[in-house]
Amino acid sequence: MSFGIMLAYSPSLTLIAVAAVAAYAALRWLSYAPLREANAEYLVLAAKENSHFLETLRTIVPMKLSGQQAARRVRWQNLMVDVIDRDVRTQKLDLLFTTASALITGGAALWLLTQGAAQVMENTLSVGMLMAFSSYAGTFSSRVTNLIGHAVELKMLGLHGERLADIALEEAEPLAEVETDLQRIRPCIALRNIGFRYAEGEPWILRHLDFEIAAGESIAIVGPSGCGKSTLIKILLGLLPPTEGEVLIDGIPIRRLGLSVYQQLIGAVIQDDSLLAGSISENISFFAPDFDQGRMEACARTAAIHEEILSMPMGYQSIVGEMGSSLSSGQKQRVLLARALYKQPKLLILDEATSHLDALNEQRIVQAIAPLNLTKIQVAHRAETVACAQRVIALNGELGCEIFVVSNPMSSRAALEEPQSMPT
Ligand SMILES: Nc1ncnc2c1ncn2[C@@H]1O[C@H](COP(=O)(O)OP(=O)(O)OP(=O)(O)O)[C@@H](O)[C@H]1O
Ligand SMILES: [Mg+2]
Repeated sequence: MSFGIMLAYSPSLTLIAVAAVAAYAALRWLSYAPLREANAEYLVLAAKENSHFLETLRTIVPMKLSGQQAARRVRWQNLMVDVIDRDVRTQKLDLLFTTASALITGGAALWLLTQGAAQVMENTLSVGMLMAFSSYAGTFSSRVTNLIGHAVELKMLGLHGERLADIALEEAEPLAEVETDLQRIRPCIALRNIGFRYAEGEPWILRHLDFEIAAGESIAIVGPSGCGKSTLIKILLGLLPPTEGEVLIDGIPIRRLGLSVYQQLIGAVIQDDSLLAGSISENISFFAPDFDQGRMEACARTAAIHEEILSMPMGYQSIVGEMGSSLSSGQKQRVLLARALYKQPKLLILDEATSHLDALNEQRIVQAIAPLNLTKIQVAHRAETVACAQRVIALNGELGCEIFVVSNPMSSRAALEEPQSMPT
């Protein structure tokens, strides 16, 4: 409406007001690309500085032991300087843009007034009309520049959106396609020609894995460090999709069953698993609001940690500290094992879950787990643990794997003679 009234009052003065707004729009357009680039760089640098800082906090002890604090601090300071430097440059650009746009609006107002005054002198415009015109021109230009400003801000927000897109656009875990009663699923796993590599063009970590694991069977996965044991465990857990082939449970591809359903059947301790800040009972029951104390103690006994927990001043209410910092590594592993068993899984998957234990405690756990009526798949290095399995799968990279049947597994005997149910 302002524009219409302005046109009616004086088309030539309206042209000046429109030219000023056009010049502002052109300036915004010219400054958009460098400002956007500066903001994008700022976000990347700030993210780098943040992760460096968090990583330093997490590794403060090894850092101190290796006397690297000073060097680490210098690196962090350099990153911080980069962030501040980028921020200052962005602010400078911003300042430059604000000054230029103030010059445009100021210059346009001055020009309008001079031209308006000339028209008043020529009697083509009255003083009152000039006053009214400049008021309408002010409203018009402030509305249009605000609109342009908001449009640019909206576009700039897209930058944050792009940084979140990697997470937000990640495909959701597929939902179950089959209606299944979890109780009826037998924990027998089949690997159909599984192959895996972390990216196209990279070497195959696993290939031609084609075997079955029967319900109740105990399997050991062995191989040198870096051969892909943990990778295979992650595939079996459904955490990594195989590049080739598929994993089936009781004849159903796990993708069809739905990962969340499949994972309800599994109790797992992965390599470098960690506890959460809270009490031991909260950790074992995974913060379930109504946990079963009896079941928890039975699981802790199986994991050979019950007595040690009882000897702590606060027993099961003892706080484990952030990531389990107040427990020894071996205690942490046993609490993690108790947590995996508390789920009452049909499948127990352990990746070096007893690597920090002394031989005696490991033996106690092996003997306590052996008679449990569940399928066990574990990565192990110690000969004693491997010998307890019924079959051993030795990974062989691109060549697949070799499978050995253990002639006298102590676990299988116990399991076959008298299968026991999970601790209740
Ligand atoms: N996220 C990843 N991206 C790319 N390569 C990876 C990644 N994780 C592991 N790898 C590579 O995959 C190979 C297998 O790793 P994996 O962790 O499965 O070995 P591992 O047999 O469990 O070893 P260890 O006995 O030391 O635990 C290694 O060569 C490793 O460098
Ligand atoms: Mg590993």
